[in-house]
Amino acid sequence: MLNTIGVIGLGVMGSNIALNMANKGEEVAVYNYTRDLTDQLVAKLDGQSIHPYYEVQDFVQSLETPRQIFLMVTAGKPIDSVIQAILPHLESGDIIMDGGNSHYTDTERRYDELKSKGIGYLGVGISGGEVGALNGPSIMPGGDKIVYEKAAPVLTKIAAHVNGDPCCTYIGPKGAGHFVKMVHNGIEYADMQLIAEAYTFLREKLELSVEEIAGIFETWNEGELKSYLIEITAEILRKKDEITGLPLIDVILDKAGQKGTGKWTSIQAIDNGIPASIITESLFARYISSLKEERVHAESILSGPKNVQQPLDKNEWIDYIRQALYIGKVCAYAQGFTQYKMTSELLDWNLPLKDIALIFRGGCIIRAEFLNVISEAYHEQSDLANLLISPYFAEKVQDYQMGLRKVVCEGINAGISFPCLSASLTYYDSYRAGRSSANILQAQRDYFGAHTYERRDLAGVYHTNW
Ligand code: 6PG
Repeated sequence: MLNTIGVIGLGVMGSNIALNMANKGEEVAVYNYTRDLTDQLVAKLDGQSIHPYYEVQDFVQSLETPRQIFLMVTAGKPIDSVIQAILPHLESGDIIMDGGNSHYTDTERRYDELKSKGIGYLGVGISGGEVGALNGPSIMPGGDKIVYEKAAPVLTKIAAHVNGDPCCTYIGPKGAGHFVKMVHNGIEYADMQLIAEAYTFLREKLELSVEEIAGIFETWNEGELKSYLIEITAEILRKKDEITGLPLIDVILDKAGQKGTGKWTSIQAIDNGIPASIITESLFARYISSLKEERVHAESILSGPKNVQQPLDKNEWIDYIRQALYIGKVCAYAQGFTQYKMTSELLDWNLPLKDIALIFRGGCIIRAEFLNVISEAYHEQSDLANLLISPYFAEKVQDYQMGLRKVVCEGINAGISFPCLSASLTYYDSYRAGRSSANILQAQRDYFGAHTYERRDLAGVYHTNW
């Protein structure tokens, strides 16, 4: 019997995707460049229909046609090498899907190359980590719709489901799927950093214990902040270090790593004139965190403010922080979804924002209760300029803004670094300013460079002999 789908790349994500497919009734052929990972997967099989191959040609020939081959290979050159290795064995009409975190422009290049050879190519954004890959991730496929439709039965089957609906939908042409995944990760960075800042305020300013903060996060996870990242942060805070008995969080070195997708989000936003300040601040927060040795040195030279403030009412301030975190999250998602909207217009992609919010509700890292409201906002107005002005969020953020203002001011006065909470407030205040200070910039540009300016009252372009 021929296999119904093939998976290449058997690291943790690839193995789990293969298991997920087999658990959903597929006959799965698997292949890995090195034999060891294939053997490891085979050793842990428990009757699943997963069939190992050790030669590319055997792997490809074991698949029913038109073939569907799913790549879970490290992004970059390895993807190109695998494509080159399988290409001679493929036939017109076969489909390759890249489920890794590829840069969307690489996906577009591969799409073009393969299309000219009659091979369908889908850039499939996948979110959910190891557990998601096994039990159901959020899936963001981009490429030709007709090709997607052939792959859809498997993709929707292995995706997470929310209220019976699969967290998988056709995203758009060419690299649109990987683009959506990339910005998802930018939002993820911002969301994570906002949580870290809320934690810092609770710990340093309100002087709460790690245990107490875990309890606060657990409570928050029962309300409108309910989300995967809040949930796992509570669990992280409950975890004790086996060596010292301390909260594990206190022994983890404060140096954040990153693999690049958040950075790509910022670069794309900067290149295209899209305001993504919160996402970008979260990236820079990781960069500055990695200067650990310098920071330790600077601490001995540079002091913060003397804390002369009165103690704060605990319960009142816990709620201000909840509000600050909520509005920060809304602003971060608003920036990410604005990036979708502006890029979609720029590239004529017609991204389905309402559906993107829906498929983010399950499986993915940024899954959150309020994605239902985000989806409704786009359902009511598909060309909504910004989530902040949708009726639900407009009311909410206006209600909560004082919480954010208080927390940012109090934290900044106490010398706490708040890159994303303060960027959220700045974004909110900049976006709602019908009149900004950019007239000063225009005047300066005209003064030193005769760059001209427009007037508020008269049409045309002006230059002044300053
Ligand atoms: C996901 C994650 C996943 C991964 C990223 C982020 O959606 O499942 O985003 O893709 O965790 O690589 O990693 P970095 O923080 O290392 O950039």
